[in-house]
Amino acid sequence: MKKEYIDLPPMLAAKGEITLPGSKSISNRVLLLSALSEGRTEIRDLLHSDDTERMLEALQALGVKIEFRDGSCIVEGISGNFPVKNAELFLGNAGTAFRPLTAALAFSNGHYRLSGVQRMHERPIGDLVDALREAGANISYLGSEGYPPLEIRPAKISESAVSVKGNVSSQFLTGLLMALPLLKRRIELKVEGELISKPYIEITLEIMKRFGVTIERQGWERFVVPKNGRYTSPGIIHVEGDASSASYFLAAGAIGGGPVRVKGVGRNSIQGDVKFADALEKMGARIVMGENWIEASSSGLKGIDIDCNEIPDAAMTLAVCALFAHGKTTLRNIASWRVKETDRIAAMAKELRKFGARIEEGTDFIGITPPPRPFVLHGSIDTYDDHRMAMCFSLASFGTHLRINDPGCVAKTFPDYFERFSAITVPVPVISIDGPSASGKGTVASIVAEKLGFHYLDSGALYRITALAAIRAGISLDDEKGVSGLARDMEIGFENGEILLGNERVTQEIRSEACSKGASQVAALPGVRAALLELQKRFRKAPGLVADGRDMGSTVFPDSALKVFLTASAEERAKRRHKQLIEKGEDVNMDILLQDIMERDARDSMRSIAPLQKSADSELLDTTGIGIMAAVSRVMELYENAGKISRIDQPTPV
Ligand code: DC
Repeated sequence: MKKEYIDLPPMLAAKGEITLPGSKSISNRVLLLSALSEGRTEIRDLLHSDDTERMLEALQALGVKIEFRDGSCIVEGISGNFPVKNAELFLGNAGTAFRPLTAALAFSNGHYRLSGVQRMHERPIGDLVDALREAGANISYLGSEGYPPLEIRPAKISESAVSVKGNVSSQFLTGLLMALPLLKRRIELKVEGELISKPYIEITLEIMKRFGVTIERQGWERFVVPKNGRYTSPGIIHVEGDASSASYFLAAGAIGGGPVRVKGVGRNSIQGDVKFADALEKMGARIVMGENWIEASSSGLKGIDIDCNEIPDAAMTLAVCALFAHGKTTLRNIASWRVKETDRIAAMAKELRKFGARIEEGTDFIGITPPPRPFVLHGSIDTYDDHRMAMCFSLASFGTHLRINDPGCVAKTFPDYFERFSAITVPVPVISIDGPSASGKGTVASIVAEKLGFHYLDSGALYRITALAAIRAGISLDDEKGVSGLARDMEIGFENGEILLGNERVTQEIRSEACSKGASQVAALPGVRAALLELQKRFRKAPGLVADGRDMGSTVFPDSALKVFLTASAEERAKRRHKQLIEKGEDVNMDILLQDIMERDARDSMRSIAPLQKSADSELLDTTGIGIMAAVSRVMELYENAGKISRIDQPTPV
């Protein structure tokens, strides 16, 4: 089933090593050329993703024999002539499959129909079709003029010179370059206008060379396809790691301190997106490169103004890095973003604004002025069925906790992205201390927080403040809608041990018996719990948080580094509460206190939502008969033993 969203905790640091999945661009080019070749090709480290799946399916539908053996993909070449002459191909949203296949099939002497998902039908292909028609191809549009779906019939080749526009997508030129050798005649290919994304053309030429066809090139304007060009299998071919995918991990190293090392691309990569590392370096990151690896670390980033023509895909990652940089970042020459999986300039602008960033956008640029830190996400991140949107925005988790919608869209190029991201990131640690009223958890939690230098959240106080606000506003404590509306809009502050409601100190008042009872009542309302959930998560900030309550470990911070269930017998708790009240000069009856505590326990543990219970993954700590400091020591010991990082300083922007 499709996952609706993924929640990422706020991240403290990034560190580690990752072996990259294979490059999408290289995988799909290599698959097509292996198919068109003479001989059998063994492809190693092929990417397994939606886009490569579409190419594999299409090639098989065209009669190419493909099998997987010992992790390699074995392709039997068809020597430039697909056996199947009549086929319907569905290519999803895979531009790297659609464009080159259109070109190759245009010269394959058959009758084919090519279609994709709705977005694919909104992505222009007219410039490629025009160029192919110039060469004699017979292609017609089945929907809108200039867009897929397409119908292809046998070509009548006549011309020996073809021209193509270079300013919309370099994939048009790539498609032509890979297909034209099938004509077995000398053809000159002229590029009109500025050619964008040149590094992708370099990848195409390099891979064609490995398959035996060398293109003569004059600058970026003129390419000559040789007369006797014939694809021959190189035998075994390795697919490099994906340099665009590398960008997320390098950026994580730069934002989260690092070092993070990516393996699979390096100094000798044929992919233009390795230049992303230079851009990151410009922002202030430290980059080290080996032949087959790149490593990033940093102690702060600064904004830059940069032409991204050569790194169109990885440039999206810079846009999210800009949230963490000091000063403004401007990414220029990115008009191609508008015709990718989604209109990426519009999508990026909309999502970055959700963090309070100031955005300027134009037809071919985006300017990003970051919000003050720590920032908050208003709402959740939408991904527009665009894998790169999802992957880029995971990086915003270094600033706040996040919800990313439709995370499964990463399958286009990187199916296990989120697992890999979590393997190199360290979330801000949380120690959850849950337990019944008057168990001493508040005192224990605040001392532990102080010892570790962590933030402290007294979640019970939030329910108490809600009750107080409702009582004051004359809202009945069982009016779920009324009380939760109030809880959502409350302005709560915790300053120097004081608790503020608006501008008023309510530290003492919320401890009254009326508020204690009221808190227990409003805490049973699901709407109130939902309203306070978001508020509680915001307390999770570097270097860490100790949170006490009833459902810290089970609901609010389920990924806590340590979960403690702190309790004491009802009699012991009544005794402690009695002592406290006597010290405050209040005279109360011990039996009534005990009765109250037992009633509240019952209400807190019987309610249907987030009942007070010891969860299986928490440590039981019974404080009956032991002092507070003994309990504190025990929690500290448990935390040390949990083997978690207790303190990593987060880099601050330079
Ligand atoms: O911990 P406390 O006594 O200050 O909590 C006040 C009330 O709020 C208590 O009746 C239980 C409720 N509460 C809750 O339901 N969930 C929490 N995380 C914290 C408190």
